[in-house]
Amino acid sequence: MANVHRLFRVLLLLFTLSDSVIRTLSVGIGINYGQIANNLPSPSRVVTLLQSLNISRVKLYDADPNVLYAFSSSNVNFIIGLGNEYLQNMTDPQKALAWVQQHVQTHISQTQISCITVGNEVFVSNDSQLRSNLLPAMQSVHNALVNLGLDKQVSVTTAHSLNILANSFPPSAGSFRPDLTEYLQPILNFHSMAKSPFLINAYPFFAYKDNPGQVPLEYVLFQPNQGMTDPITNLQYDNMLYAQIDAVYAAIKALGHTDIQVQISETGWPSRGDPNEVGATPENAGLYNGNLLRRIQSGQGTPAKPSIPIDIYVFALFNENLKPGPASERNYGLYYPDGTPVYNIGLQGYLPELLYSSSKRNVFSVFSLLLIFLVSLIYS
Ligand SMILES: *[C@@H]1O[C@H](CO)[C@@H](O)[C@H](O)[C@H]1NC(C)=O
Ligand SMILES: *[C@@H]1O[C@H](CO)[C@@H](O)[C@H](O)[C@H]1NC(C)=O
Ligand SMILES: *[C@@H]1O[C@H](CO)[C@@H](O)[C@H](O)[C@H]1NC(C)=O
Repeated sequence: MANVHRLFRVLLLLFTLSDSVIRTLSVGIGINYGQIANNLPSPSRVVTLLQSLNISRVKLYDADPNVLYAFSSSNVNFIIGLGNEYLQNMTDPQKALAWVQQHVQTHISQTQISCITVGNEVFVSNDSQLRSNLLPAMQSVHNALVNLGLDKQVSVTTAHSLNILANSFPPSAGSFRPDLTEYLQPILNFHSMAKSPFLINAYPFFAYKDNPGQVPLEYVLFQPNQGMTDPITNLQYDNMLYAQIDAVYAAIKALGHTDIQVQISETGWPSRGDPNEVGATPENAGLYNGNLLRRIQSGQGTPAKPSIPIDIYVFALFNENLKPGPASERNYGLYYPDGTPVYNIGLQGYLPELLYSSSKRNVFSVFSLLLIFLVSLIYS
């Protein structure tokens, strides 16, 4: 009986709050759906999960047909990816056309696909062949879309690591590494021609972890703090992520472009890490992602681009147990593979119990828990 009451209260709460929660999220948070794991729920369950969260923008690292089929007739809009291992083949127009036919054209009448990332963090590698293949691969994928009449619907880009920057502070003095100019200049020209966004993976966590004594935690977690002033523009920055975004805009401008939008293809914070990974805690991850959601909710732009709302794909939907590297790599998820949130903010206590009190975990309880998690994120 207690459980029934509890359920009723949860329902009532959902009924009361879901409208504002949903509106909050609809402003457009995106999420990275990585699958380097052997324990994730099936894509069709993930459809339910994301629908309950009203998350309608998802980024994949591949073009997994199981995912794209599962999301057919959903309102979810996808960024799909071509891994670095495809770049060489994609420089061949015939192979690019075949790939686009198989992975985009097949799905696009059922599943929304708005963007293809060709390669991920290519310049982290020193492989000169890979670097040289990047732009030609982007171009032939774009040309394939043009030939199929899909280029107005689907844009072509690539995602960069923030370490393509030589300088990121002050933001107005942001610049790309000089050794990358020969690659980035023509890539920017391509973005300008193809009207596609410039994608960056940005993790203030790395800056904090590498230098916890110097970097104020509040500044990286969007908590109240003194902030930093850009001495050239006098613009005030109250968080590192916005400073990083504006540094990328400045670096693009230094190469002659003011017509390219910057989007954050990945950002997030790990809830666990190795002992030397300072700051990787559920508390910090909850603050980072919760505060970031609130910023997105308010439609805020960065100090240098106040009228352009920040456009972000959070990393990541699930913890991914097979990711190599330090422990943090396997702990970026907002959710465990069983659909329980990794961290709860506010409304703590009885809600997780609801899930566990049911021996047969039904869709509804997972639903409720997720909505409650979001309510708690937003109202904490
Ligand atoms: C979900 O978000 C979309 C925009 O992404 C919004 O138009 C819609 O109203 C939201 N759904 C509900 C049920 O409020
Ligand atoms: C590249 O193309 C070759 C020849 O068609 C094929 O055998 C190979 O599997 C392709 N590589 C990838 C990563 O798809
Ligand atoms: C790439 O090259 C630079 C300079 O040549 C070197 O410092 C760096 O360690 C190399 N990175 C990798 C991943 O090999």
